[in-house]
Amino acid sequence: PMKKIYLYGNWKMNMLPFEGEEFCRTLGNKMQGDIYSSEMIQVCLFPPFLTIPEVLKSLPEDVPAACGAQDGYFEDRGAFTGEVSMDMVKAVGCSHVLVGHSERRHIFGESNEIVAKKLAKAIETGLKTVLCFGETLDERESGKTLAVVREQLESAFAGLDKDKSCCRVILAYEPVWAIGTGKNARPEDAQEVCAFAAKMAGDYFGTHPKIPVLYGGSVKESNALDLLSQHDIDGALVGGASLKVDSFLGIYENYRKISV
Ligand code: PGA
Repeated sequence: PMKKIYLYGNWKMNMLPFEGEEFCRTLGNKMQGDIYSSEMIQVCLFPPFLTIPEVLKSLPEDVPAACGAQDGYFEDRGAFTGEVSMDMVKAVGCSHVLVGHSERRHIFGESNEIVAKKLAKAIETGLKTVLCFGETLDERESGKTLAVVREQLESAFAGLDKDKSCCRVILAYEPVWAIGTGKNARPEDAQEVCAFAAKMAGDYFGTHPKIPVLYGGSVKESNALDLLSQHDIDGALVGGASLKVDSFLGIYENYRKISV
């Protein structure tokens, strides 16, 4: 019941720099009291690239909140118009990065192979890296969920340096059909896949402490308790509900209120 919760907010293509600054000021004021100690929670915000500097400048230092990028490329530099390298993500001051988000895979056509290269580069760069994975509705309905997830994770883990990876990899199970739809996975279904992923990561990396597994897809205040109470769900990756401080922190508070 006292598990530490990872509360990660993916802003996607929202939030201008001034909005990011306002958010962080409010966040700092509200993350007060014992439930916001670093033993209880870790917050990470994922703003669009151009909003990152403002967020880094205005995140208060006395709260457990970090900042990451939503993506990064696998090459170090060169003729890759429009891309940002993992080195650049690190150099501006981010500690985290997302790779393989469902919108990258499905809107921008990123394959498991590209995701694997990005993950390996991010880990090598020293970033804490959130590897996102999850099945489509078709795949779930035809009973292929665990096979799809196994393939996504196996291909991503294959290129990794095991020693460097153990403390840097964070997993985020995000069923594609649950993202931005208002329709979250049933807690027991999310638990099943998160347990499967945790076991795969444990077998592969053999790590202690265990690799955190987050759930994402329409997480909001009203379903937070049921989802976050699951044994193998260590936190939430939140899209829509992360754009307002109250609905974002409300996810955590709804869990904690009942569980402390
Ligand atoms: P959502 O997005 O919370 O708006 O469903 C989650 C995500 O894409 O990370």
